[in-house]
Amino acid sequence: MAFDGEAFVEEIRAELVASGRTLDKARWVERVVQGEATKEELVGWARQHYHGVTYHTRRFLSIWLGRIPYEMTESVIENIGEEVLGIQSKSGHGHLHWLFQFTRALGAPDEVITTATPNVEAVLSESFLYNLAHQRPWYEFQFGASLGIENQIPPAYIRAVEGFKHHYGDLLEPDDYAFHTIHIMVDEDHGGHVGEFAERYLDTEEKRRSARAAYFAGAEATRRCWDAYEGVSW
Ligand SMILES: [Fe+2]
Repeated sequence: MAFDGEAFVEEIRAELVASGRTLDKARWVERVVQGEATKEELVGWARQHYHGVTYHTRRFLSIWLGRIPYEMTESVIENIGEEVLGIQSKSGHGHLHWLFQFTRALGAPDEVITTATPNVEAVLSESFLYNLAHQRPWYEFQFGASLGIENQIPPAYIRAVEGFKHHYGDLLEPDDYAFHTIHIMVDEDHGGHVGEFAERYLDTEEKRRSARAAYFAGAEATRRCWDAYEGVSW
């Protein structure tokens, strides 16, 4: 029987959901939903996301861009354009700007994040993403980063934004969590065509195994990075 890409993607997604390790169940998200996350914890999460992913996104996407089939380059360039310049969201700024808008609104000086020594979870997340971009078979990034991370972002941030609206109104204006609302919008598409992608490029059992491994590693590395938010003060 021919390989069914949609079924492959559905199966690994369902397995991640069943494990309870999706990003929408991350500790800071649960605490925001309950209105229990402190300012320090929220800045701690932003610190983790900065060192583990966001500071490096433009670099690892640019590295990957040089290794992918030509027909995929346009959407990755679009992704970099949004990440660095906000071209898709037309938000006038790249994502780092919006991440600091969030932490400044919470009262934290930027140095709490920029001069922090990255913890093990942040370094592992960053290193894994560079490993995919530089070193691993090119198609793994599609599973370890696009499907394993980006595609999980909208459901996680939808929960967080609900929590911000309900419990943090005296602290945060909508612009202050634009980092989250922008990602709900721009990341929605990043898992959309992975079934098709799998059918086209994962044409051996070996490739499917390595794509699967990258998916679970990317999702779990990010989850651990997000959950290691403790220790911030100013
Ligand atoms: Fe981003």
